[in-house]
Amino acid sequence: MIPDSGTPRLEVRNITRRFAGRAVVDGLSLRVMPGQVTCLLGPSGCGKSTTLRIIAGVERQDEGEVLVDGRLVSGPGCEVPPEARSIGLMFQDFALFPHLSVAENVAFGLPGGARANRARVSELLERVSLGHLRDVWPHQLSGGEQQRVALARALAPRPRVMLMDEPFSGLDERLKDDIRDRTLEILKGEDTAVLLVTHEPAEAMRMADEIALMRAGRIVQSGAPYNIYNAPVDKEAAAFFSDINVICGEVRGALLMTPFGEFLAPGHPDGTRLEIVIRPQHLRIDFDRSGKGPNPTPQDGVPARGVVVRARFMGRESLVEFRMDYDGSILKATVPSVFLPKPGTPLWLMIRRGRCFVFPAEAGNCRQKVAAATAASAAPAPASASGARGKAG
Ligand SMILES: Nc1ncnc2c1ncn2[C@@H]1O[C@H](COP(=O)(O)OP(=O)(O)OP(=O)(O)O)[C@@H](O)[C@H]1O
Ligand SMILES: [Mg+2]
Repeated sequence: MIPDSGTPRLEVRNITRRFAGRAVVDGLSLRVMPGQVTCLLGPSGCGKSTTLRIIAGVERQDEGEVLVDGRLVSGPGCEVPPEARSIGLMFQDFALFPHLSVAENVAFGLPGGARANRARVSELLERVSLGHLRDVWPHQLSGGEQQRVALARALAPRPRVMLMDEPFSGLDERLKDDIRDRTLEILKGEDTAVLLVTHEPAEAMRMADEIALMRAGRIVQSGAPYNIYNAPVDKEAAAFFSDINVICGEVRGALLMTPFGEFLAPGHPDGTRLEIVIRPQHLRIDFDRSGKGPNPTPQDGVPARGVVVRARFMGRESLVEFRMDYDGSILKATVPSVFLPKPGTPLWLMIRRGRCFVFPAEAGNCRQKVAAATAASAAPAPASASGARGKAG
């Protein structure tokens, strides 16, 4: 059967895997189209490698199905062996065979070996810029070169799907970016569907067409990197990509009252505690002007005063930490350039209202009396604080 263009190259439906009664993968579904790179991103132990092993066929799920080009390769009453799934694998410890030359390593999975597949091996070695090293031994290669040979070896049988489990984590930091970019280019050239596991948000942002954010065996959010970063489903999803600040507020008359002004909060009864989450680069710092801060604005709301606790230069930006007058909590702001005020300096902070996410307060958080805005309020932000996806604006 020739799949139509809408058929995912890889489809995983509702897979669950339990170890000792604990669901390590828990009803997970995903789809990857030809030529698409999806990054499975999540903290250590959330079930990423187990998911990959199930798709590869080296681990069996308790429930659910795996399909390649619309064809069932694993499910009730069906178990295609790993070598017949047309799935390429590349894991962190991409050991090359030490007794085989570079060319022989690349040809390893091809019937007939290096001689019978000379053209394909040369094409792949050229593509990874190693054509001149075809006859050397693996131990004569650098780490980055070995990684590229492993990539060529995995691609040689033209897999429909490529599974990569932290393939760059063993590489020198300085090599990583270049190798990631080259790898991506090669994979796109082969029109393979790629599922790449990583626990590094920066790697996922750099490589993925789509990010599937995983937590405790489930995918909690998936989408383009831009959307995942700018519309996180919850506080944890926001915190996975950068430092965050949390500002507590309380609903009164459909408005969320915070030290930084009011936000619309329709549908929430009076007394509900909500959290505003904002990244450090979306706080604005202003001067004290003898105790009088800046005037409120529609974009930046009401200013709140804090005292500098610490300021550090981070290379591209400065990170300034404040202890806020309103409740003693710490907020972090980054400034592009060198800005290193002395500890103890009073300054004012404003939050970019369009960059706030509003989530229900976690149990136990935001219990302290929430200080209401004291300065004249800016107009309430038009965005709602009505649900976990709420984004104040
Ligand atoms: N064969 C097994 N028997 C029992 N428990 C297992 C087995 N394989 C995995 N686990 C458990 O399942 C959980 C998920 O493991 P997995 O290797 O999938 O995590 P991961 O997301 O790849 O983590 P990391 O980022 O650290 O590689 C872990 O708690 C692990 O101990
Ligand atoms: Mg793993």
